Amino acid sequence: MSQLTVRPGAPLRGEVGVPGDKSISHRALLLGAIASGVSHVEGFLPAADCLATLRTIQSLGIELEPAGPTSFQIMGRGLHGLHEPQDVLNCSRSGTTLRLLAGILAGQPFSSVLSGEDQLRRRPMRRIVEPLRQMGATILGRDGGRLPPLAIRGGELTGIEYSLPVASAQVKSALLLAGLYAAGPMTLHVPGPARDHTERLLAAMGCDVGYQVPDARYPLPDTQSLELQPPARLAPLDLTIPGDFSSAAFLAVAASLVPGSEMTVTGVGINPTRSGLLDVLRSMGARLSLDGEHQAGGEPVADLAVQHAHLRGMEIGGPTVVRMIDEFPILAVAATQAEGETLVRDAAELRVKETNRIATAVEQLRRLGAGIEAQADGFVVRGPTLLTGARVHSRGDHRLAMALVVAGLIAQGETVIDDVDCIADSFPGFVETLLKLGANLR
Ligand code: S3P
Repeated sequence: MSQLTVRPGAPLRGEVGVPGDKSISHRALLLGAIASGVSHVEGFLPAADCLATLRTIQSLGIELEPAGPTSFQIMGRGLHGLHEPQDVLNCSRSGTTLRLLAGILAGQPFSSVLSGEDQLRRRPMRRIVEPLRQMGATILGRDGGRLPPLAIRGGELTGIEYSLPVASAQVKSALLLAGLYAAGPMTLHVPGPARDHTERLLAAMGCDVGYQVPDARYPLPDTQSLELQPPARLAPLDLTIPGDFSSAAFLAVAASLVPGSEMTVTGVGINPTRSGLLDVLRSMGARLSLDGEHQAGGEPVADLAVQHAHLRGMEIGGPTVVRMIDEFPILAVAATQAEGETLVRDAAELRVKETNRIATAVEQLRRLGAGIEAQADGFVVRGPTLLTGARVHSRGDHRLAMALVVAGLIAQGETVIDDVDCIADSFPGFVETLLKLGANLR
């Protein structure tokens, strides 16, 4: 329940890194657990969400051997080597842990129960429960399977052709993971270019998974159709995880907004299914450049250099939304400083994240004087506004907490952000990184 106090101050300058990608860290653990042999992982994100995944795979009988602060070996037991857990699997506050693990557990010939903290037990699960039931898993949950805890009795799955009702990487991944255990292929139609880390890792492990029209993948199509053939085994991973774009996003916006800033974040993953914010910030007039682009761990990586700039408002909707789904709290802060109106639409999914991010971002940024209003499927911001320091609350949402810290860097006077421990869910070292860049906070 700790607190941060932020004041506007010096420009943000220097070169920093960000911790490993959260989505890829979860997937490395889960896929390493069911690989045949020892996987080597470097650049793992030791954040609360990923540590929840780590503990769940240990409860399923997987051993890990540390090899450094963010590197280890995972002793994979093969597709059929997991053990029935002796207790409820605690996913803490991590939706990715619960939903992806449910996909694997749907294929296991044993029973398991997935649960977690209040915040997670409010998040919608029917989106995975229904298709996993269609595949043959038995799943019980509160309110007919809408809410966790989920009790899963897996095994004997069939591959299905399924159109996802939401463009969600978690749902897509849960079904691909269940598909590893199905008799027959899986075909998924996803209504938007949701992040594709699971497909990339599975392909690197020798699994036959791909887009039905591979050449149509770039430019990213509005609907992704992909097919997975269940493999006999998965080869172990040898993986270096890139820096998390979603963490770098807070620094990039901070440097864009604080006058005189000039900063570089090194080694950031720039997978096009994740980096929609770059396109949006560029269209808003941000001064961004990508240097030293290369591939690492099957993902595009670059150094992201950002300078202060005057931003213009714009409209954001359609397929761009899923490509920046975690970046809307910080986009809202950027929009308060942009000239004119920023309209976000087609983003109703924001209502079922760690918090209802439309409601919580609007409520908290208004306390600082922002001209922001909620809409059914997004929000509208009229700028630029001179923000004024005030007392705000993260509502237990890590991304809202960090967005409010960045808002505090440009607000007049002192901004106090309550309940900032949640920042450790995705970006341990966030405060230290801002201090290193010259920010004024304690
Ligand atoms: C994630 C997918 C997204 C994202 C979340 C991580 C993933 O969730 O918001 O932070 O790792 O697959 P949805 O699939 O619910 O959009």
